[in-house]
Amino acid sequence: MLTKHADISWVARNSQIFSADEPPSPSSQTSPDFCWPSDLAWNTPATDRKLPQLLGAFLTPRTMAALEKSCRALATRSVAQFVQRLDEHGEADIDRHLGARLTLAAVRELVGAPEQGWDDPANCHETSESSTDAEYDRQTEALHQHVAALVRARPTDPPPTAREVDHAVAGLLVPGCRTTRTAISGGVRALLEHPAEVGKLAANPGLVSSAGEEILRWTTDSLQLARGCTQDIEIRGQQIRKGETLVLWLRAGNRDGDVFPDPDRFDIGRFPNPHFAFGGYRGHISPGANLARVQLRATLRALLPVLPTLELLGPTAPGVTAVRRRA
Ligand code: HEM
Repeated sequence: MLTKHADISWVARNSQIFSADEPPSPSSQTSPDFCWPSDLAWNTPATDRKLPQLLGAFLTPRTMAALEKSCRALATRSVAQFVQRLDEHGEADIDRHLGARLTLAAVRELVGAPEQGWDDPANCHETSESSTDAEYDRQTEALHQHVAALVRARPTDPPPTAREVDHAVAGLLVPGCRTTRTAISGGVRALLEHPAEVGKLAANPGLVSSAGEEILRWTTDSLQLARGCTQDIEIRGQQIRKGETLVLWLRAGNRDGDVFPDPDRFDIGRFPNPHFAFGGYRGHISPGANLARVQLRATLRALLPVLPTLELLGPTAPGVTAVRRRA
C-alpha cells in the first residue's frame, strides 16, 4: 500500500513499470484487512480490454470540450430548480436534488440521450420525497439502455459480448455520474461546515477555481487505484516482486502533510493543490476531469448567492446533505 504523495505520484507516472492492465495479485484480494473495492472495477482486466474501443468516442477531448459549454447552462438550471424546491418545501437535499440530477443530465447530454421531464421545473417539485429515488433509478435505467445500444452498435470485431457491454456502460455511468455527484454534495457540505470559507468565497468569487480544487482534494471519491508491477522493484526499502499489486491510497496522499500544509484544514484558497482526486497527479488522469471541474465550478458560481443563507439540516452525520434556509 502506498500512502505518501511522492510514492503515489512516482508510481502513477511510470506506467511502463506499474501497469493498470495487470490483474490484481491474489494476495491483494485475500488479505483479511483489505476489501477489494468496486472502485477498482474499471482497472480489472477481465473485460476492459475493449473499454477504450467501446467508450472512446464519448470521451474525446472534443466531445468533452463541447459538453463543457452546455454544462454551465445545465448547472445554472439545476441550481435554479434546487432553490425552487428549497423555497417550496423548506428544505432540499444537495445530493439528491442537485448533484444527482445535474450529473445525470450531463452524461445524458454527453451521449445524446433524450431529455427527461425531470429537467422541467414543473415536474421537479411535484415529485414526492419517497418517489424521488425511484424516479432517479428510472432515469438511470433509461440512460443505461441508451448507452448499451450505442455500445452494441460500435463497429468492433468481434462484437462486444453482453458482459463487455455491461462493463462499458458501468465504466461510463459510474465514473460519469457518481464521482462528480460526490464532489458536488460533499463539497457543499464541507463549505457549510466551514462558514468562514463560505464568507471568503462570497467576498471573493474569484476563489471558485481554488475552492473547486480543495473540494476535490477534500472529497476524493476514488479512494484507491491498483497498479500491477511488471518487474521486481524496491520502494522505500521494501522489495516488490513482479506480478504483485500496489494499492495507491489517493485519499491518504491527498492528506500528506509533506505536500499539503495543515492537510486536515479545509482551505478554499489552498495553492498549489496537487491532489490525486482524478488519479496520478500529472500522470494518467480521469478523462472526465475537465468536465467534472466545469460542473463543479459552475455549480458553485450558481449557488453562491444562496450559499450564505443555507445551513445543514439535522446532525452533521457523514453523508447528511439536506439543507434549509437559516432562520
Ligand atoms: C469529480 C469527478 C471525478 C473524479 C474524482 C474522477 C476520478 C477518476 C479516477 C481516480 C480515475 C482512475 C484514473 C486512473 O486509473 O489513473 C477515473 C477514471 C475514469 N473516469 Fe473519472 N472522475 C471524475 C469524473 C468523471 C466524469 C465526469 C467522467 C465521464 C463523463 C469520467 C470518466 C472516467 C472514465 C471512463 C475512467 C476510466 C478510464 C480511464 O482511466 O482512462 N470521470 N476517474
